[in-house]
Amino acid sequence: MQISRRGLLASAGLALLPMPSLAAGAAQAITASSGRQVLLDEGGPSAEIWCYDGSAPGPLLSVAQGEELAVRLENALEQPTTIHWHGIRIDNAMDGVAHMTQPAVKPGEGFDYRFTPPDAGTYWYHPHTGQSWEQLARGLYGLLIVEEREPPDVDRDLLFQADDWRLTEEGLLDLASLGNRHDFFHAGRLGNVLTINGKPYERYPLRSGERIRLRLVSTANARVLHFRLPGERAWLMALDGQPIPPEPLIGDITLAPGQRADVILDVTQEPGSETAIQEVTNQPLDCASFLTSGEAALALRPPPAPLPDNPLAPLGAEPRQIDLIMEGGARRFLEEASYKGALLSGRDLALEHGQFWAFNGIAGMAAEPFLRAALGETWAIRMVNKTAWPHVMHLHGHHMREIARSDGPPQSQAWRDSVLMQPDTEVTVAFVADNPGKWMLHCHMLEHQAAGMQTWFEVG
Ligand code: C2O
Ligand code: CU
Repeated sequence: MQISRRGLLASAGLALLPMPSLAAGAAQAITASSGRQVLLDEGGPSAEIWCYDGSAPGPLLSVAQGEELAVRLENALEQPTTIHWHGIRIDNAMDGVAHMTQPAVKPGEGFDYRFTPPDAGTYWYHPHTGQSWEQLARGLYGLLIVEEREPPDVDRDLLFQADDWRLTEEGLLDLASLGNRHDFFHAGRLGNVLTINGKPYERYPLRSGERIRLRLVSTANARVLHFRLPGERAWLMALDGQPIPPEPLIGDITLAPGQRADVILDVTQEPGSETAIQEVTNQPLDCASFLTSGEAALALRPPPAPLPDNPLAPLGAEPRQIDLIMEGGARRFLEEASYKGALLSGRDLALEHGQFWAFNGIAGMAAEPFLRAALGETWAIRMVNKTAWPHVMHLHGHHMREIARSDGPPQSQAWRDSVLMQPDTEVTVAFVADNPGKWMLHCHMLEHQAAGMQTWFEVG
């Protein structure tokens, strides 16, 4: 039976809009506005959220590798916003960073994004303004799939988008705690309710013997999630959109905010069974199920072939080196740091400016980049986490490779855009500065970013 993968996505019973088929070049409009969605209990009350086109996640965007995507953002919020295309090695002017690559889009206004993603894989989009932490906590995000020219041999392509919401007992957004200082200098806004694909519980109808591709994405503000998938035959295929040599999946999948993982999995469950996907950071929590039907599968399939390579330039042999020292936060308060050009005490930073964290002695965005790279140079950034908290460091416009890590072997096979670091550890990443423009490097725990953990570099 020949069904297009596009058809499969649309018919998989997920909270997704069927994809409109667009003539190349025609822009798809996306409206950021308030909406209502059931988050806590199936059949329970709906919460007022902010979202794209009426639901969180917003519309699934899909484009073939090497083809242009055109999206018009309409802002029907009461705040300025933008769209950042997380993980896409994009033209700088389309990166969506308010005040750096474009002006923020005011309420009632719009912005045209148009770009050609060079890499196939699993990506996502979200606002990128001084209020990102609020806009994402309220539900503004969506997934972006760049389809391989030669798609892998799977029967279904399924989405698993996880978000961590902080809700009241009634199932409404907990707005009273939005923006509270404690979150900014501790772990960020941790939620109390997990949704998958915007639902309190997700169910995937599958047939025994099918081979599926599961695209896992975390859009959480700050919580690091750990998922346990059912079944014994699964392979990790890609991280942060970029293929890795297929690795049998052993153990759990860690997704820090912004990270993605692509898994290929054989449905070996008994027909008629329901098997849970669990979040296992603490007490295992069922968050989704495979509902398996059909006939028992007989033959085991061979392991999947690797996903086709993306056109990433290899690292140069002798990277230039720079340090990024990460300081501050609860338990290790900043003594002082510069902020907007003035050296301030930790106390003034906190009380007057809501800044609790610093990179290389600077809280927030500096006038000057922390690194200027010539086009094509390979740079190694030694990131030193002197804080008592984990952080997930996100690089714009490029992917990076871990080349050293103080707490274990570096994940040197993967090209990542977001790297998780534990307290008191160092990770050295290297990347080829081959995308001209002004790019951010920041913690993707969005309250940390807003409270100081952000900087930028310039290429070319
Ligand atoms: Cu996903 Cu700078 O962001
Ligand atoms: Cu952080």
